[in-house]
Amino acid sequence: METKQKTIFSAIQPSGSITLGNYLGAIKNWITLQENFNCIFSLADLHAITVRQEAKELRKNTLEAYALLLACGIDPQKSIFFIQSHVNTHTQLAWILDCYTQFGELSRMTQFKDKSKKHADNINCGLFTYPVLMVADILLYQTDMVPIGSDQKQHLELTRTVAERFNSIYSPTFTVPEPYIPKSGAKIMSLQDPTKKMSKSDSNANSRVSILENPDDIIKKFKRAVTDSESSVRYDKNKPGINNLMIIYSCITGKKFDEIEKEFDGRGYGEFKAAVGESVISHLIPIQNKYKEFIKDKEYLEKCYKESAEKAQYISNKTLNKVMKKVGFII
Ligand code: TRP
Repeated sequence: METKQKTIFSAIQPSGSITLGNYLGAIKNWITLQENFNCIFSLADLHAITVRQEAKELRKNTLEAYALLLACGIDPQKSIFFIQSHVNTHTQLAWILDCYTQFGELSRMTQFKDKSKKHADNINCGLFTYPVLMVADILLYQTDMVPIGSDQKQHLELTRTVAERFNSIYSPTFTVPEPYIPKSGAKIMSLQDPTKKMSKSDSNANSRVSILENPDDIIKKFKRAVTDSESSVRYDKNKPGINNLMIIYSCITGKKFDEIEKEFDGRGYGEFKAAVGESVISHLIPIQNKYKEFIKDKEYLEKCYKESAEKAQYISNKTLNKVMKKVGFII
């Protein structure tokens, strides 16, 4: 008998350049998940316009992010990988679910509070209802599991709440998704302030490494990474800078912490930082080379995102139709 594979949905915003943190924290896991699950990935360009975007830049960033994720190993033969704005069910379901989400619930979202502070001159309604669009993204595909970072946990909780609410008002309609916290779930921190997450939008460019960055700059950034005043390479909760570098090195090389401690026993931070930088470079170079090929081949990119959008449209229409019928629309 055929056993149904579980469905995984995740998305990333195409704003700014994708960092080593995004790669090790999310994308690298997506690549592994493709082997065993029915995976649906999206570039969340609709979410991106909740903060002001330059049209030309958004278009360029979206295409570049698409090419880059293919270069990282997302395989459109194995997974559906589409651009969110190409599939119109997302905005349609988001509107409907807005009417099943409470103002109070959205007011409590910590990301909304943070972003309203950061973009105080543009606290638009989209920023407020952003989580509901995410709820729609997930529920449209009857998703079983959503790989997310800890900053998105509250949004996934809301997804479950809204799904359960709709299911109980009408009848089972949506699969209630679980968060998927990968075994090697790495939260990569800023190289300049290792108590903060590495971020695309950090004003200090030395805090992050982008996947497409040139090797000399990568080495420089690792050499300048903020650490403590000791010199022995060991994992310790009071050494967030070294821990972060150990996590990066471990993700890239597959070595365990005790192996890393042994490898750098008696060698200082300088040597360790250089080794981490070198390991990152040798991992990223093949990705950068593939990216250069993909970004030149606009026809291939278009073929991939169009085919994926068609598949996503087909699957998500089924859910949207069910919802529309239950709500009482004439269809
Ligand atoms: N909001 C997510 C982020 O910024 C991106 C996202 C959009 C997402 N829709 C999603 C993630 C659905 C998981 C599932 O990281």
